[in-house]
Amino acid sequence: MAQRELLKTQVGIVGAGPAGLMLSHLLAQSGIDSIVIEKRSRREIEETIRAGILEHGSVKMLVESGVSNRVIDEGYEHEGIELRFNGEGHRIDFRDLVGESVWLYPQTEVFKDLAAARDRDGGDVRYSVSETGVTGITGDDPRIQFTGEDGVEYEIDCDFVIGADGSRSMCRKLIPEGTRADNFREYPFAWFGILAEAPMSAPELIYARSERGFALISQRTETVQRMYFQCDPTEKPEDWSEARIWDELQARVAGPDGFELKEGPVTDKIVLPFRSYVCEPMRYGKMFLAGDAAHTVPPTGAKGLNLALNDMRVLHTALTEFYANGSEKLLDGYSERALGRVWKSQHFSYMMTTLLHNMPQASAFDSRRQLAELETLVSSRAGQTYLAEGYTGWPNA
Ligand code: PHB
Repeated sequence: MAQRELLKTQVGIVGAGPAGLMLSHLLAQSGIDSIVIEKRSRREIEETIRAGILEHGSVKMLVESGVSNRVIDEGYEHEGIELRFNGEGHRIDFRDLVGESVWLYPQTEVFKDLAAARDRDGGDVRYSVSETGVTGITGDDPRIQFTGEDGVEYEIDCDFVIGADGSRSMCRKLIPEGTRADNFREYPFAWFGILAEAPMSAPELIYARSERGFALISQRTETVQRMYFQCDPTEKPEDWSEARIWDELQARVAGPDGFELKEGPVTDKIVLPFRSYVCEPMRYGKMFLAGDAAHTVPPTGAKGLNLALNDMRVLHTALTEFYANGSEKLLDGYSERALGRVWKSQHFSYMMTTLLHNMPQASAFDSRRQLAELETLVSSRAGQTYLAEGYTGWPNA
């Protein structure tokens, strides 16, 4: 076999989603070299529709680290959300309760900004690679092998490997099963998601609980809207005509106040899986896992991207410390520190999910108890504050 072409860097990053690119960007700002490799093409990542809410801390990170101001210029600041049940809306006013806000700015746009920033700053990001492998992470010679888009077989010689390769992570599988705890929770439902060409139905997100199940009214722009409704995981998008989708969504938000969604052509429909997962620990030898490679949250709490960015903030601090004075203390503490926020976000997402979804076998008791939980929450300033703190994002640990 022909010799592999050797590349050398300090940090080798597997995965060029927002997590991998953010770390590469932050490291470059600290004078640390990295190479990022990615199986998908840049176009494919840009065209994948993902969730859209950024905590204020994530916005601050994008702006203050010099990625882009586009989130501020083109995103939408939301100072609250509406919880809707019994056909009535209850606003949770983040600004009033905790002095914070969130931003509606889709993950696709975060990716575009990060990819452009890496281009601008001369970053080494290689899309459309194949045959990826990682070796040597338990010793002192970590290496990443891959075949480039140009067909050449490469090997990266690096100090550390970062597994930011998404929920079907190849890197995660390198942690032996006896060493790794896979903490799973499955849910007996999924989300049916649509994009529609229509005006906004509301200025902020609406999280609705109804007898027919959960619905989320989100937005993208003045003319494109994103909405979801709870469905059976076996549901097929092709069985849902436009009329059937709108009837279902309207029924889930209908109420005595006469609220109605503004309808329009549905341009995309998808059934999204729903589960919680945490891999512990998030480190194995010279390899560090981050983002979806290490954890998955249900979308109800809008935490996925925010958690990934937090992992990278923690990892960046630890790597900077290592390259500044050789100390591995913060690297040794990475997993525990990152997991603190991961588990809080798991709980928050679980709480939002169980608060608002219909459990398939729910009894009349379960259903009344759930309504009482919602009533208790919205009628208590302490309850609303608890939700606002979680949704907008807790202070950094
Ligand atoms: C979205 O806009 O796609 C979105 C917003 C909030 C969520 C989940 C998804 O909790």
